[in-house]
Amino acid sequence: MKGKFISIEGPEGCGKSTQSEILVKYLKEKGREVILTREPGGTRVGEQIRSLVLDAKYEEMEPLTELLLMAASRAQHVLEKIMPAVAQGKVIVCSRFTDATITYQGYGRGFNRDLLKTMNSIATGGVMPDLTLLIDIDARTGLRRAFGVEKAEAKSGEGDRLESEDIGFHERVRYGYLELAKAEPERIRVIDGSGTIEQVSAAIRREVDALLAREGAGRGGVTQWR
Ligand SMILES: Nc1ncnc2c1ncn2[C@@H]1O[C@H](COP(=O)(O)OP(=O)(O)OP(=O)(O)O)[C@@H](O)[C@H]1O
Ligand SMILES: [Mg+2]
Repeated sequence: MKGKFISIEGPEGCGKSTQSEILVKYLKEKGREVILTREPGGTRVGEQIRSLVLDAKYEEMEPLTELLLMAASRAQHVLEKIMPAVAQGKVIVCSRFTDATITYQGYGRGFNRDLLKTMNSIATGGVMPDLTLLIDIDARTGLRRAFGVEKAEAKSGEGDRLESEDIGFHERVRYGYLELAKAEPERIRVIDGSGTIEQVSAAIRREVDALLAREGAGRGGVTQWR
């Protein structure tokens, strides 16, 4: 069986963690070998970077530093974990990948999006997900799910360094994701995240089944241009 690389994206609290676990279970029941992972993180080195980049105590962290740390985590992740797993025919389910750089550092922080695309290419060597599940949810609803009602109303001040950005930031992130999905409708499938956990997971299963049914047809697994 050909390896597959699936990323799960979406605003804070959209259900990435919940749904990736459900998806992993589903894929295992189908007899696939699955690896659940995340960015930033996913490797020993990457998890160290994650704790640094998300720690709310580093208020002084420059946006450029944040961007480069995310890219560093990704480079390690692709080389150490994603490429080998896909080559072994496994399915990789990854919470956040390159699209998050465009939405958070681009739409959120204002970095030039062509620069970010270049940065992503450097970090990934051209490796892209076969399928990206964008769990779309209104930014406020997502924050409310993640933190409870009160904190979604004001600048949260809690949560990690990115979660505690203001609501405008999270609205730009959501908008950015929808724009990316419009630009790449085949790879990025929009899943309505406002339903119940079961409704969302059913929609995800449909997309994943369609991906697995394409097995053998067209490109399978990860391509790399480097
Ligand atoms: N469809 C749903 N309806 C209602 N609540 C949900 C739904 N999906 C997830 N939740 C709940 O919302 C919260 C956030 O979900 P989850 O942690 O899966 O999101 P996430 O996208 O991983 O968030 P983060 O961006 O913070 O990692 C959790 O408490 C989860 O149980
Ligand atoms: Mg999560």
